[in-house]
Parts: sequence; structure tokens; C-alpha cells
Amino acid sequence: MQPILQIKGLRKAYADGFEALKGVDLEIAQGEIIALLGPNGAGKTTLISTVCGITMATSGSVTVGGHDIISDFRAARSMIGLVPQEINLEPFERVKNTVKFSRGLFGKPQDDAVIERILRQLSLWDKRDNQIRELSGGMKRRVLIAKALSHDPRLLFLDEPTAGVDVELRRDMWEIVEGLKADGVTIVLTTHYIEEAEAIADRIGVIAKGELLLVEEKERLMARMGQKQLDVQLTERLEAVPQALSGYDLVLCEDGCTLRYSYDTRGERTGITKLLRDVSEAGLVLRDVATRQSSLEDIFVGLVHEEPGDAA
Ligand SMILES: Nc1ncnc2c1ncn2[C@@H]1O[C@H](COP(=O)(O)OP(=O)(O)O)[C@@H](O)[C@H]1O
Ligand SMILES: [Mg+2]
Repeated sequence: MQPILQIKGLRKAYADGFEALKGVDLEIAQGEIIALLGPNGAGKTTLISTVCGITMATSGSVTVGGHDIISDFRAARSMIGLVPQEINLEPFERVKNTVKFSRGLFGKPQDDAVIERILRQLSLWDKRDNQIRELSGGMKRRVLIAKALSHDPRLLFLDEPTAGVDVELRRDMWEIVEGLKADGVTIVLTTHYIEEAEAIADRIGVIAKGELLLVEEKERLMARMGQKQLDVQLTERLEAVPQALSGYDLVLCEDGCTLRYSYDTRGERTGITKLLRDVSEAGLVLRDVATRQSSLEDIFVGLVHEEPGDAA
């Protein structure tokens, strides 16, 4: 099947010369939820803004449902819904009118049944005649989603939908996203929370400093992230892993003195205690033990530590 979104070699340099995107390639299949995970300043909003036609790419190409976002802008844009990072609503406007107006902007015929369905789906029907200023922060975010859905897009972008939102509201948001997926909407969300990506995404892309470092199925990524290594250093060189330890998945390192053991940090038992006992029972003398994290986890830890705090 044709991907709903295809990004090739996308670069973006802002007017001051700053390169916010350094050649991004990404394909998104219909119906999936993909999370773009990265710290503030990584280029997440720039990527979304470029796909939505808010900023111009410096080079590269983007198609949405096969429509080029430059030469076939209207067709491409009509397939996209965008929930921006900042709440940008008219405080005195009423909920239902706001959503109807958004639909009108896309040249879609007015359809009260569609507006009602969307407002009910987002638990806003009871608030339809309220002014925006009368709503809580969580409700305002839901109004942003309702507006983004008003023209029945097939691809929805959620830019940091839960930044600065408390845990309970975050869960509500995840449920809404699940519901939209069940309706067949493809979802791209950005986040700087690893647990958010883990909770709802089918696939995770890690973005940092304008580059997409990796894109992978969540399950595989999480399995890899959970891998840790224990290096057991011995006082003597070995020719091979001793027979007595063949029950473990051990690798003898090149120095001949180090046995490397991989284990799943999320498993209930790591087997380390038993391994160390078996090592000494095999007559080997320990010089040192050290743990190593897999490189992917290093990337994530690096990302989280670079985070300056508040959402930019
Ligand atoms: N209009 C602009 N002019 C110059 N630099 C910008 C502009 N908008 C964003 N940037 C820079 O581009 C980088 C990526 O920003 P952004 O896409 O907003 O990141 P994210 O959404 O991942 O936090 C940042 O370093 C930011 O300062
Ligand atoms: Mg952003």
C-alpha cells in the first residue's frame, strides 16, 4: 500500500542560516501511530510545520496520500489535521462555532452531524455552547483536536499534545488517540516523554539536532532498550567460554579475560547472582564486574539530559 506520508531528504534552514532539519527521510503507513521522540529544539515542530505547509522546506520532498505538498498543496493539505503545540483559540468564541468555522476554512460543506460526532467523541458536546475562556486547559486541548478533525483528515499531527499536562489528562489524551486510530486516522505525535511514546506508539522515531536517528517498531525498540550487559573480568585469559557456563548466553571478548553477559533489565530476574556463583564454582577468579548499557539507551539518556526543562 502507498504510504500516507512520504518524506525524502527534507532539509530546512531558517533565514538566519540555522539548519533545523538536516535531511530527514520517513515513510508512514496508513493507520499507524508514530511518535517522534526528541528533546526541545530537536526539530519536531519544524518537521510538522513543513509537512503542513506552514514553513517552506529548503530542499527535499513531501507527499501526503501521493499528493506533493507544493505542486498539489490543496489536495495534500485537505488530508491533514494539525493540532499545534500552542493553544491558539479565540477566548470569546463558542466551542461549536469554532469547530464549524475550521471545517469551513477547508471548503467543506457545513454538516452538523459531523460536528456533533466530533464533539461527542472528544467529550465536548455538553460544552458546545460555552465560550472557550470558560473551559479548562484539558478541554481547550480537546477543542484544538476537534478543530483539527473538522474536515475529516486522514493524517493527524499532534505536536506535544501532553506537554505540561498532568498525568490524568495525559491518560485521557492517550485514550483519545487510541480512539482515533480505531477510526482509521493515521497519527503522528511529537513528544519528549519516553513513556508517552512507549504507551501509545506503534513505531518510534528518535529525532535530535535535526536528524532522525532511528525509526523502529516500538516492541523491538523497547526490547533493545531493555538490554544491559554485564562484563565479568577474570584474572586469567581463557581460550573459550568454559563448559560449566555453557548454559548462559556468554560471549568471550577479544581480550580473552572478559565474559560478556546480556540480560533484560525489565525481566524479573537477571540471573546475575547465579552467574557470578557459577563463575567462581568453575574455578575462575573475578577481577572486576562492570555493567554496560546498550547504545540505544545511551541515546535516550542523552536526550533526556539535554532537555532544558519547559516545553519550548
Ligand atoms: N523561525 C525560526 N528561525 C530560526 N530558528 C528557528 C525558528 N524556529 C525554530 N528555530 C530553531 O530550530 C530548532 C528546532 O526548533 P523546533 O522545530 O521548534 O524544535 P522542537 O519542536 O523539537 O522543540 C531550534 O533550535 C529552534 O531554535
Ligand atoms: Mg516543538
